[in-house]
Amino acid sequence: MGLAESIKTELSTEWHSFEALMASTLESDIPLLNKINGYLLDNSGKKLRPLLALVSAAACCHRVSDASITCAAAAEMMHTATLLHDDVVDESEMRRGSLTVRSLFSPGASVLMGDYWLSKSVNLLVGLGNMEIMGLFSKTIEDLASGEMLQMEKAQKLDTTEKDYFEIIRCKTASLFVSSVVAAAIAGGAAGIYVDALREYAVKLGLLFQVRDDILDYSETAAIGKDSDCDIAERKITLPLLCAFENAPQQEAEMKSLMSDIDITDAESPKNRELVSKIKSFVLENGGLASARQKMKRLRSEALESLNILPESVYRKYLSEVAEALVSI
Ligand code: IPE
Ligand code: IPE
Ligand code: MG
Ligand code: MG
Repeated sequence: MGLAESIKTELSTEWHSFEALMASTLESDIPLLNKINGYLLDNSGKKLRPLLALVSAAACCHRVSDASITCAAAAEMMHTATLLHDDVVDESEMRRGSLTVRSLFSPGASVLMGDYWLSKSVNLLVGLGNMEIMGLFSKTIEDLASGEMLQMEKAQKLDTTEKDYFEIIRCKTASLFVSSVVAAAIAGGAAGIYVDALREYAVKLGLLFQVRDDILDYSETAAIGKDSDCDIAERKITLPLLCAFENAPQQEAEMKSLMSDIDITDAESPKNRELVSKIKSFVLENGGLASARQKMKRLRSEALESLNILPESVYRKYLSEVAEALVSI
């Protein structure tokens, strides 16, 4: 049995409540909206954020409260909303092994469904009446938008440094890991020192997760259920490319000049394909993936270290196993 399945079995009552809460919250009497909701619920993802939220609450509270389950549902809905928006921004065809809402329905439908899932997520949080939790998630919504905008600006200027890269992924990815985990712990009445430890764990795990995703972008589409080889084509300077620059600094200017010739509005043109393939070869030949993997492993060690302060339990073990599983790619 896989790790996610073991966790869902261990927390089966809570997991069913989470799934039921998400489905009932999203219901609408508009047929088109229900149709796309059905499509999204049938093609769901790994549900990593709610898993982490529930395990974190279990790791430091007497029991997983309904309020923690609400945070888990809000987190997954907010995540799905960001993907609906992201697939419009990135003009993506595939997501979770199926067509994106953007390509199956329309970009407009994807934006509006993203808004709907986002507002339903906020609705759930309002129901908790906890300003600290509202504050956490509202900061995350800001981070998500500003992280994406910073990424867009850097794709135009092509001057991303490693510091910029980590700021982008802290905002666009780690921020939601943090609010999911921290909110669920706070909602369960966790002690402050445990909340701090989980915050540290979640930020490292979130960064690790995006580094992993950026490494996987260099692999085959079939393996990841979404388009691959996208980042270079979208002029995104992610960690594998930054590491290749570090390993072969004499070629950085040449590679950036090739990258500046990429036209992101015409991804499939023969000229773009040739440019992308040259830059990809540069990354592969100069150890970009291996160096990025090393940095990912360092984040794993930091994430694991922050768990030490939590009481020993099967849940703490799950949290460390998630970090281990994510780096084994
Ligand atoms: C995808 O996240 C977006 C990133 C932060 C890289 P997930 O890989 O968690 O997406 P799903 O929900 O499982 O499809
Ligand atoms: C992560 O960015 C998406 C969000 C956190 C919104 P990407 O654009 O790299 O993610 P994928 O590859 O589309 O899942
Ligand atoms: Mg994106
Ligand atoms: Mg994307």
